[in-house]
Amino acid sequence: MRIALFSAKPYDGTFFKRANKDKRHTLSFFEARLTEDTAPLAAQYDAVCAFVNDGLDASVLQQLHDGGTRLVALRSAGFNHVDLTAADQLGITVARVPAYSPYAVAEHAVALLLSLNRQTYRAYNRVREGNFSLNGLLGFDLHGKNVGVIGTGQIGLIFADIMHGFGCRIVASDPFPDPQAKPFVEYVPLTTLYAQADIISLHCPLTPDTHHLIDAEAIAQMKDGVMLINTGRGRVVDTQAVIAGLKSGKIGHLGLDVYEEEEQLFFEDLSQGVIDDDQFMRLTTFHNVLITGHQAFFTHEALTNIAETTLANIDAFESGQGTLHQVKASQG
Ligand code: NAI
Repeated sequence: MRIALFSAKPYDGTFFKRANKDKRHTLSFFEARLTEDTAPLAAQYDAVCAFVNDGLDASVLQQLHDGGTRLVALRSAGFNHVDLTAADQLGITVARVPAYSPYAVAEHAVALLLSLNRQTYRAYNRVREGNFSLNGLLGFDLHGKNVGVIGTGQIGLIFADIMHGFGCRIVASDPFPDPQAKPFVEYVPLTTLYAQADIISLHCPLTPDTHHLIDAEAIAQMKDGVMLINTGRGRVVDTQAVIAGLKSGKIGHLGLDVYEEEEQLFFEDLSQGVIDDDQFMRLTTFHNVLITGHQAFFTHEALTNIAETTLANIDAFESGQGTLHQVKASQG
């Protein structure tokens, strides 16, 4: 099939060309994000391969449909950026990569947590400048702390497992508790999780129900000095409310791999220009905030699986055989 890959970075080229080494598909890599303006690039392509910050609203999907696209193959697990109802109506099939490496994301959440606790990002700079003072670097033992996990899917449960290994107690919230979850995962009401957790990590998808789940009201119920980690989706957190929480000291540490308005920022080198997102820039002024630019998925294993599963989805769509990881409007 002819496939147009949007938001394509050099590393996407490397891994997709490797997965397509028999050249069974024709791959065209477009650096541009998929938007109303760039959708015409996909004309005559049977399949469009999109990433997390590509916009697949009704009007973009209409343009893709008019250009002959029959399949949207997401190279992500999340599909909140696709209007699935519009895709259904237009007869465009949408597929995703349901699991490429839940370990990659869970491990990155732990990396944020550990760095924030012991402030290794500050220590690194200090030592390079010959400053060996420990003032301001005081951390806490993880052993015996309560860790709240919101969303106990693939990533949340691996994160819980790792934190249990540190000797933490795991309290979890999920509208669909996993009966296979290990016995140390204690499902509790969200209000109990907020009241008890020293650290809260978000691993739920972005849905109408989880949009701004972490708002001022939720933060008010949390422990003073709570550590909040978000590797899920930016809009699960109300950034203004979190900034207020940081200013008051209610939130003691904040680790973000995702951000509400990240579409305008992440995955690009903006270091030569002016970043005009004041909210984001305010976040970067707090010494107890650590932000990474949506890199939790970014491991060798994950990129290999993403490329292979995306092409396998396309093979399955084309041949009618094999597993097609389709997403439908009822799942949105
Ligand atoms: P999953 O589908 O296995 O698990 C999601 C869990 O969240 C499910 O158990 C679901 O019942 C639960 N959930 C739904 N609504 C909830 C609510 N209101 N409160 C609490 N839990 C709720 O998904 P997986 O693979 O674990 O991924 C989780 C999320 O992580 C994805 O939706 C995606 O947004 C994000 N992600 C981020 C990446 C990154 O690079 N930062 C990479 C991959 C995924």
